[in-house]
Amino acid sequence: MNILFLTHSFNSLAQRLFIELTRCGHDISIEFDISDAVTEQAVELYRPDLVIAPFLKRAIPETVWRSKPCFVVHPGIVGDRGPAALDWAIMHEHRTWGVTVLQANGEMDAGDIWASATFPMRFASKSSLYRHEMTEAAVKAVLAAVARFTSGSYQPMPLDYTRQEVVGRLHAPMRQLDRAIDWQRDDTHAVLKKIYAADGFPGVLDMLYGSLYYLFDACAETELRGNPGTVIARRNDAICRATVDGAVWIGHLKRKSDTEPTLKLPATVVLQEQLADVPEMPPESLPTRCHDGHTTYRDIWFEQKNQVGYLHFSFYNGAMSSTQCERLRAAYLTASQSDVRVIVLMGGADFWSNGIHLNSIEQAASPADESWHNINAMNDLAQAIITNCRQLTLAALQGNAGAGGVFLSLAADRIYARKSVILNPHYKSMGNLYGSEYWTYLLPKRVGEKKARELTHNRLPIDALEAQQIGLIDDCFELNHADFRKQIEQMVEQLAASPDYVRLLAGKCERRARDEQTKPLAHYRAEELRQMQLNFYGFDPSYHVARYHFVYKIPHAWTPLYLARHRRILKTRSK
Ligand code: COA
Repeated sequence: MNILFLTHSFNSLAQRLFIELTRCGHDISIEFDISDAVTEQAVELYRPDLVIAPFLKRAIPETVWRSKPCFVVHPGIVGDRGPAALDWAIMHEHRTWGVTVLQANGEMDAGDIWASATFPMRFASKSSLYRHEMTEAAVKAVLAAVARFTSGSYQPMPLDYTRQEVVGRLHAPMRQLDRAIDWQRDDTHAVLKKIYAADGFPGVLDMLYGSLYYLFDACAETELRGNPGTVIARRNDAICRATVDGAVWIGHLKRKSDTEPTLKLPATVVLQEQLADVPEMPPESLPTRCHDGHTTYRDIWFEQKNQVGYLHFSFYNGAMSSTQCERLRAAYLTASQSDVRVIVLMGGADFWSNGIHLNSIEQAASPADESWHNINAMNDLAQAIITNCRQLTLAALQGNAGAGGVFLSLAADRIYARKSVILNPHYKSMGNLYGSEYWTYLLPKRVGEKKARELTHNRLPIDALEAQQIGLIDDCFELNHADFRKQIEQMVEQLAASPDYVRLLAGKCERRARDEQTKPLAHYRAEELRQMQLNFYGFDPSYHVARYHFVYKIPHAWTPLYLARHRRILKTRSK
């Protein structure tokens, strides 16, 4: 079928559905939801059999849903209606939640139901649930709905609240009042729940040092205590605030302003001198547990098990600032001086890496200088990994990776991913950014020149399975996070203990030496950076404009042609 995606943006869910439906043999074209007239034109041009809305913020125009079947992916259980569905599910601590595919009609979320799927809830941020459980359920439900539609005989279920299976309800939008934290009453669990339900958007509005900020990126702290609501410690990017029964770390803040746009930034960067009297609490000063359900906050940590070292870097949204790259490089170099035989680059549970930190760059006094600093810090990190001749390095992609983050993973000797991971191995959609991280050396080596050109020019996402088929990564496993980590551990333990280990390491070092003779790494870097210098400092401001639009989330004014295939057809016709 010809399927038109009508979507607010090409977000991770839309990307995943694009890949899955394409694999089923359907032709997908994408139009951003810009205006009713643009949507009508897209339908006119593409003449789709079906319209799917994976991520919409407005109603579909009547002219469109009356002329074409339109499937809306609603992030709620059957019968749930209204905005902030997942936010309410977290706030109400539902044990299971779901996704419903319904056909658009005149009433919001009230159309006939084509399919649904449920999932167990996890105590985690909204964006994490959305990227994992919600996305898996949405893929199941959309594939079922499309198969039913194709069969031609399936009768969708009308929304009828007297039916047993219709368990959801219409709910109101969630206001900041509903999200507000009462620091004198709310315990750590309640504070975390409120911040989780609002993360990544809109955040919980709260007062700090007499000003209003939106809070994001929270995790529990069980060792520290203080007056509820006060900032009692800082560590790297995060601040620690006491609660009535413990404390929470808050990694990111966005200043509220009614007059100018503001950015989500590391909490210590936003508060700066206000934190002068707040003690820095290095991670070593507390028991070594953290993040992902543990008890304190760290963004980089190293675990050694037998002959293997696991280097975790759980950066919010996968964005890596200059200092984070420098700290990660230092941690990698320290690990490489230890007696481990294999280092595994674990990234974080939600993202492996999304490359340089565009928000930090945007707020720097000179975004061009900070871009330059950040990309050089990324390159230094990539270089340390590529040139390590003491150990084998593996990249274990538990979460998605984009742009420079994908190419950083290629610096490792072997790359493994969870099967549902999405990769965006290209830079161009960020204002024609050329990219660095030694991608001109690493990418063709893995996939060949032709495929490398295709990947970087097409600007499309691929999943782990396709990445494995084209040789970009070595393997992928269809497993949840815990099973993926277990399988990685088993493989790596075997590799480290293998009689082949010495030969493999020697082979890698010989290849590196040969490659260096053919063309030194420094030459690749210099060539890439020459192009990046033009991106950062040249006459064409495309990268700065694209970055500004990206970090301030400026609504799209058009759909790029690499997504809107129907507009490419039009362009070809008019030639
Ligand atoms: N720097 C800063 N923030 C970043 C980022 C980066 N490099 N990459 C992603 N983010 C943020 C987004 O702004 C968004 O923030 P939010 O929490 O306020 O909503 C969040 O991460 C999730 O990103 P989103 O675009 O919604 O996720 P996605 O899974 O739909 O898309 C990407 C993933 C990688 C395709 C997309 O985020 C992207 O294009 N990122 C930029 C990559 C890039 O160009 N890096 C610089 C060159 S190396």
